[in-house]
Parts: sequence; structure tokens; C-alpha cells
Amino acid sequence: MKNELYFDHPLKQNCRKFLSRHKPLSQRAWMERILNMEELDLDIDSFGHGPAISLLEQKLANILGKEKAMFFHKGMVGQLCALKYWCYRSSCNSIAIHPQSHIHNDEELAYKELLGLKGYFLGGLNEAFDSKDIYSLPARLGAISVELPVRRAGFALPNWESLLKLRAYCNDTKIPLHIDGARLFEAAYELNKTCSEVANLADSLYVSLYKILGAMGGGVLAGSEQLIEGVGEDKCRFGGDINTVFPYVISALWGLQHHFPRISTYCENAHSLAAILKEQFEPKLNISDVQGNAFVIEFPFPKSVVASESLEIASRNKTWLFDSVLQGRYLPTRVEVQIGDAFDEWNESEVIDVFYDLVSRCERQIG
Ligand SMILES: Cc1ncc(COP(=O)(O)O)c(C=O)c1O
Repeated sequence: MKNELYFDHPLKQNCRKFLSRHKPLSQRAWMERILNMEELDLDIDSFGHGPAISLLEQKLANILGKEKAMFFHKGMVGQLCALKYWCYRSSCNSIAIHPQSHIHNDEELAYKELLGLKGYFLGGLNEAFDSKDIYSLPARLGAISVELPVRRAGFALPNWESLLKLRAYCNDTKIPLHIDGARLFEAAYELNKTCSEVANLADSLYVSLYKILGAMGGGVLAGSEQLIEGVGEDKCRFGGDINTVFPYVISALWGLQHHFPRISTYCENAHSLAAILKEQFEPKLNISDVQGNAFVIEFPFPKSVVASESLEIASRNKTWLFDSVLQGRYLPTRVEVQIGDAFDEWNESEVIDVFYDLVSRCERQIG
């Protein structure tokens, strides 16, 4: 049995209630979901081409207001293709990224190691960039990438004015703007903009299919026809041409039908949950502002204590609270909350009870 609290911990498999994300599905439940989709009767795809893939790409291009979109088995690969496209066009191997971005922190530095790109940081470690950060960027850049919101900075989201200023800066300097929109739909809710208004800021953008859309995996890169045609060969070079990907694609179409219309509900639920936690537990706990469907909670206890007591609750109550425990900013330990359909099964008193239980257990453990 693993001691560390992590999303693939064996105790999670036995849980019946989950605070974050969409309710996890078994292999059979995934297949049953897909079996009920009428798009299953379309012709099967082959190496990136097929009617269900085209349908998904078209639907997302429409939602994002872009000429074209392309399915990728991993968002990371789609983004590397876009960054390479922009940097090769301008013969400039420098990009701007957030210091806590997925590109810099979660991809084994593929942008450096595989593409030979050099990263300059836009924004401070624990916050989204703001307009003053723009003017300290180097004059020559192949692309600027902005993650909306920056998950590892506590889901920090730049404000709309800063985004407009960045767009104006990109217009002036002719530097292409890429958006890492793994959570773009959630960011649009928080910014009070439509998805296409946010996407319109970018020359290229990626959206995840398996975050709020709840697909099995994958992502979509969107932009001009020229961009999408231009990344095709690199998609192949990065191993992105797969014999068939229909389970990913059909599950994403399911997500567009069922989760997409509920995004505002997931975000509203996150706001209500954070408000309840603030009222009940601050100042002992620190509850961040909500960005879309996500926020972070910080505890005044060591990571090992929060982890072991959360695992105890998982074992005893079959309730899974957090997918990982992280270093806090204001207090020693941080956890993330990202609301999806799993939260449909909670009511207010259950939330309050489980957090009282967790906090009092942690207090007892540290004496
Ligand atoms: C902000 C962000 N960007 C990019 C990715 C990459 O997604 P994928 O796992 O599809 O490569 C993720 C995945 O967690 C992410 O959170």
C-alpha cells in the first residue's frame, strides 16, 4: 500500500464519493458510455482521419471561433507542434512561458530538450502575469504562451485587461500568442467572456478534452487553416498519428453533449463550496479565490499529516478528497479542488462534516 496521497493510490479505487473532477469510470463504464453514442456508427478513423474526428474538430473550431482544429492524443504534443511552428517561421528559438506553466514544469522540459527552445518567464511564481510583466520581455520571441489559468500557481488567472494588453503587444511586435487553454472553458466562465472571445486573443490555442469535458484523454489545437496544415508533419514526427483513436474521440463528443452545457454549474458549485469552506474554516485554513471550477485550500499542518488523514478518510468513509498534497504558499500544505460531476453527490452538511473530521484528525495527530 502506498503511503503517499496521489491520484492513482489504490485506496482511490475503493472510494465511492469524490470531491474533485468527474466521477472516475471503470473500464466497463467507459465502454458503456461510448456504446450509447450514435457517432459510434460512423466509419472508423485511421491515422488521424475519419468522420468522428472531423466532427469533433469542427465542433471545437466552432466553439472557439477558429478556422480549424486538430485532434492530438496529448495536448502536450499539440502545443510543442504549435511552438515549433511559430519559432521556425520567425527563426527565433525563444519563447515566453509562465515559470509555473505545464510546459515548463510537467513535460520534462520537452520544449528545451526536443525543440531546443529557450524559455523566458512571463509572470511571477505564484501569480498570473500582469501588464507590467509584458514590458520586461525580450524584444525578440518566437512565441508567447499563456496558460489560462496557471494550475501550479493555484489556478491563477490574468485579468481581461492584462490579456488585452498582451494581445496589443503581440500585434505591435508581431509575436504570435499561444494559449495553453487546458482549462479554457473554465477560464472563460471566470472572465465572463465566451470561449471564442478568449480564443480570439490567440493565434493558436490548445484545449484539453479530458479536463472539464471529461473525455478519456487528448486535446485539440486550434487556429488558422495555415497553422493546422503546418503542424501535420510534426504531429507525425512526435508519434501523434495513431491507428485509431475513436474511444478518445467518441468520449470527447459525449463530453461536449453532457459536460459542456454544465460547465457554468460546475463553476458555480466551486464558488459555493469555497464560500462554505471560507465561512466555516477561515482563518484556520486558507481558501483561495475560485478561478472557474477550481481553487486551492491550504492547511496549517505538515503535508504528511494531511496526506495520512485524507487516506484514513478514504479508507474509512470511502470518500476521496484530494488527488495530491503540495507545498503551500501561506500555510505548509496545499491541496487542489476542481469541481466536476462527482460533486453532484454532495450536500452542504456532508462537505462541512468531512472537513471538520479532517481538520480535527490533523490537529489530534500533531497534538
Ligand atoms: C495546463 C496544462 N497544459 C497542458 C497539459 C497537457 O495535457 P496532456 O496530458 O493531454 O498532454 C495539461 C495536462 O494536465 C495541463 O494541465
